[in-house]
Amino acid sequence: MLETIRWLSDEECLELLDQTKLPIEVVYIKCFDHHQVAYAIKGMAVRGAPAIGAAAAYGLVLAAGQIMSHTKEEFLAQLEMAARELAATRPTAVNLSWALTLLLQKVHSSPAGAPTVLKGLLLEEAHTIFKEDILGNRKIGQYGQELVPQNGNILTHCNAGALATAGYGTALGVVRAAHAAGKNISVYAGETRPLLQGARLTTLELVQENIPVTLITDNMAGFLMAKKKVDLVIVGADRIASNGDVANKIGTYGLAVMAKMHNIPFYVAAPFSTVDLGLKNGSEIPIEERDQREVTHHGGHLLTPTGIKVWNPAFDVTPHNLITAIVTDRGIVQTPYSENLREM
Ligand code: MRU
Repeated sequence: MLETIRWLSDEECLELLDQTKLPIEVVYIKCFDHHQVAYAIKGMAVRGAPAIGAAAAYGLVLAAGQIMSHTKEEFLAQLEMAARELAATRPTAVNLSWALTLLLQKVHSSPAGAPTVLKGLLLEEAHTIFKEDILGNRKIGQYGQELVPQNGNILTHCNAGALATAGYGTALGVVRAAHAAGKNISVYAGETRPLLQGARLTTLELVQENIPVTLITDNMAGFLMAKKKVDLVIVGADRIASNGDVANKIGTYGLAVMAKMHNIPFYVAAPFSTVDLGLKNGSEIPIEERDQREVTHHGGHLLTPTGIKVWNPAFDVTPHNLITAIVTDRGIVQTPYSENLREM
């Protein structure tokens, strides 16, 4: 399994697997300051909600290492500035601000005042976020695999695997756990235009694990369902509102509508840190819009007439009534989501 994020303690730097180059090249980027981490998140060298949360946490550790102040007040002011820069890189996944808030709270609540001590606390917290993400994903896998039939075809979208997390994955964690439990499963991976996370990353992870996978383009999913080739759909999430509405990679909503039409269970797998109880519903989730070149170009080549107008939202919102269940590291949640998520 490829490692997405590595903290190198000898060099005090963060190594990120450059996912824009996969599967052709395996290249790691070394980040020595938080500006480099912010650049890597924005440019999607590191992507996936839990992975950007963990990367941002280490980014804040790097920022702390460069703060020269001698007072806690000054230290905090500069740390908060760095956190704002990291948080602004991608607005939809709540894991990013969740991780940064945890680190800032750690420093605020510590009785220690010496910046060197505070830096140590930040690194400890970043390691905890990283390790707990992997443990949480394994729990998601265990809960989720119960929903997978002994023999079945699973459709997934984008990449919610080890590459999108600290390790193991959420939606692909469920697939991994079902495979490990001896279930006879095979996966359809939607290619996920425009950046092809499904075609480039999900297929790579599954091939490496010897889990049967078939690639489809996004516009084939409806016909695949109509042909009764899908037993369940499972996807990850970037933010879940308190009523269970889910923001995930653009195209997820369409799959959920089609799954409903064909009576196919539609599952979402995500750590509880992806749930934003502060939001009433999905309409409050900020949706990132990205550069139009992602749609008009491929591999540096223009595909369209020049100057064409483009709309490129990176995520969409799936209403909770299309979701059969949400698999979290704390257990499986079903409707009524508002009550059940809050209770959890
Ligand atoms: O734009 P990306 O590649 O960061 O989008 C990723 C997704 O939408 C994933 O499904 C989501 O972050 C969950 S990853 C466990």
